[in-house]
Amino acid sequence: MKASFWVCGVGAVAAWAGVALAEAVEFRQALTNAPLEVKPAANEVETDAVKRFKQTGENPYRGNQAALADGKRLYATNCALCHLPDGTGRIGSSLIGTDWSYPRVATDVGMFEVVYGGASGAMQSFAKRGMAQDQMLKIIAYVRSLAKT
Ligand code: HEC
Repeated sequence: MKASFWVCGVGAVAAWAGVALAEAVEFRQALTNAPLEVKPAANEVETDAVKRFKQTGENPYRGNQAALADGKRLYATNCALCHLPDGTGRIGSSLIGTDWSYPRVATDVGMFEVVYGGASGAMQSFAKRGMAQDQMLKIIAYVRSLAKT
């Protein structure tokens, strides 16, 4: 029974992969929901914050004043043109409130997926532009702080 042996083998591999993935966040492309490989930018050394985020899905920079200051600066140069300095949106959608085009954006993993992997039209992948994962986490922490002001 060669065929059933194969089915069995594939099942075992899938089960094993499932166990391995259960320990870490599985990122997906916002538009297609296809698996999204999240890796360091050229010359980026993964910070502890990035490692923790990939393990837990929680953004360690939330509420961290130094990170928020960096995030504000990065947001101003990379995002504000389309999303406005206060995040209310112009060319790009509003980044504050709870009325998301992509419901996944309600979580930091989901917002990271959009920033890292891109969405449609003008919202292009910031990974492809060479932005470091760590910078994305700082920007996201800053965006979340806007929602509360
Ligand atoms: C050139 C314009 C442009 C820039 C720059 C830009 N965006 Fe966007 N953004 C858009 C557009 C347009 C959309 C809507 C895309 C869609 O609906 O697929 C969008 C959508 C988004 C969404 C999804 C919102 C929702 O409601 O689901 C997030 C999150 C986002 N942008 C974050 C950012 C961040 C953070 C930056 C900076 C790192 C950034 N964007 C830079 C144009 C831009």
